[in-house]
Amino acid sequence: MVNDSIVRVLGIETSCDETAAAVVVEEGSLTTRVWKIDSSVVASQVDIHREWGGVVPELASRQHVRDICGVVEKALDDASATWAALDAVAVTQGPGLVGSLLVGVAFAKTLSFSLEIPLLPVHHLAGHIESLFLENGNLPLPAVVLVVSGGHTNLYVVRELGDYAQIGRTRDDAAGEAFDKVSKLLDLSYPGGPIIDQLACEGDNQAIDFPIARMTHVDRNAAQAVESYSVIMRQHPGRFDFSFSGLKTAVKRYVQARKGSLGSLKLSPQEIADICASFQRAVIKPLLGHTCDAARTFGARSIGIAGGVSANSQLRLEAHALGNQVGLPVFFPSLALSTDNAAMIAAGGLRQFHHGVSAPLRLNAEASLPL
Ligand code: KG4
Ligand code: ZN
Repeated sequence: MVNDSIVRVLGIETSCDETAAAVVVEEGSLTTRVWKIDSSVVASQVDIHREWGGVVPELASRQHVRDICGVVEKALDDASATWAALDAVAVTQGPGLVGSLLVGVAFAKTLSFSLEIPLLPVHHLAGHIESLFLENGNLPLPAVVLVVSGGHTNLYVVRELGDYAQIGRTRDDAAGEAFDKVSKLLDLSYPGGPIIDQLACEGDNQAIDFPIARMTHVDRNAAQAVESYSVIMRQHPGRFDFSFSGLKTAVKRYVQARKGSLGSLKLSPQEIADICASFQRAVIKPLLGHTCDAARTFGARSIGIAGGVSANSQLRLEAHALGNQVGLPVFFPSLALSTDNAAMIAAGGLRQFHHGVSAPLRLNAEASLPL
């Protein structure tokens, strides 16, 4: 039974290599709604996949099966909540690895059926966007939001709560994927973002002039632009799109050439730090450039940046400086909510709940779910 002033949602996230569960509580009336994280548990599989240099889908789904019961029970324990206290269960329906998604979806459907509570389907990227609202309250709207992770690099205009209009995307690799691949070719660890972030602090970001891609042609596979934006999108083809595969190849060629010239010697720690810093600069520049350009073009009143790469320390620093320069507030999730977690899925579920969206028990996982 849903109390008028309290809605308690269990969120479940298993789209990739993190098994996560969280309890988020909404308190207050329609005008004074506040979201509060009562618990957030993440069981990371990083140690399993590190050995392979990336996520192995089969290993990921098997590990989700092992972890899901304990992770959900811990989320309830940490929140001092009973099963009966749950008002709804939210789950990532997609996009992601289908075998991984299925574990969370099957678990959530079982809970929904046995507890007789609504099943709230959540798009993983909507979850990342809602992580901004979960911790910062309502952003001034319209907001331009960059979702930058291991699987996606997308730009959205959020015109109203829960309304996400995509205006840009990567044409090839996601920014996080580029971090992971560059880390691998420098023989650093997996995932690559945190270690490159750390090493870049010791390097010279002007040491190597890596290329920054500019898209000038229409994206033939683009989703249909929202009616009111289609004119702008047609006038400026590719203006808000990204590309990181050329940069990754440039780093690869540079490293190969340097290793060739060194013979049996290894790259020095300073040279590795310089490569990390220069690569990172070439990623951050288009991310922030396009986000600010979009904010201007679409009359945004705030900027949000979410997803795993939003944990990057230099990106945070430069985004806030740029925000001050253009006079717009810039919002990030906390570091814990930047990478995959279930609190953001519970928040996405609450948004669905208030839009009257719930799923039937035949809900299926969708690897390429559109937003
Ligand atoms: O959002 P996320 O946890 O999973 C996906 O939805 O993909 O993002 C993971 C990505 C990885 O590619 C990882 O290398 C990157 O986020 N990442 C970072 C940092 N921390 C994680 N990238 C740059 N700097 C960081 N500090
Ligand atoms: Zn994610």
